Amino acid sequence: MIKVLYPDWLTRELRTDHAGETGAVWIYRGILTVSVNNSVRTFARRHLETELKHLNKIESLLSLKHRSWLLPVWRTAGFFTGAIPALCGPNMTFYTIEAVETFVSQHYQNQLDSLQPIVEHNPELVIVRSVLSECQFDEIAHRDEAAQRVQNAPGAIIRLWCFLVSGGSQAAVTLARQI
Ligand SMILES: [Fe+2]
Ligand SMILES: [Fe+2]
Repeated sequence: MIKVLYPDWLTRELRTDHAGETGAVWIYRGILTVSVNNSVRTFARRHLETELKHLNKIESLLSLKHRSWLLPVWRTAGFFTGAIPALCGPNMTFYTIEAVETFVSQHYQNQLDSLQPIVEHNPELVIVRSVLSECQFDEIAHRDEAAQRVQNAPGAIIRLWCFLVSGGSQAAVTLARQI
């Protein structure tokens, strides 16, 4: 597919999406490396498949030269964001996914809000909007599914971990906009 040249801000935003979907793939790989819980593994396998599709869709929009230079960092960070809670059990794993997907759905919403006023005059952006909104639709489902699967109220450690995961996601987005 021929890659369209986007305005600079949109290229940067798509780079954050590409970094994020890469991280998401590796979160589920991290979970699958560590978890021995069947329901967690089935959940992670199914979500991994969806995240690979998201990654493919974003890759179809963003040329190689515009992707983040820090992809090895995003893969490693994703792996541990999945593996660490998976070591601690299903409850922490599902809370982590809920935190990540809450962040990601809002991130896509912010981008969709920015695109909305300009898409009418830039028909080449219609495909971008539809990819972002398809991804967001799945992330919301992932978030809600994880939220339904938690068993107990989160303790202090899980709350602190999820706080770090959300802050880390925000920091990753800020960095991926630049490099
Ligand atoms: Fe995704
Ligand atoms: Fe997701």
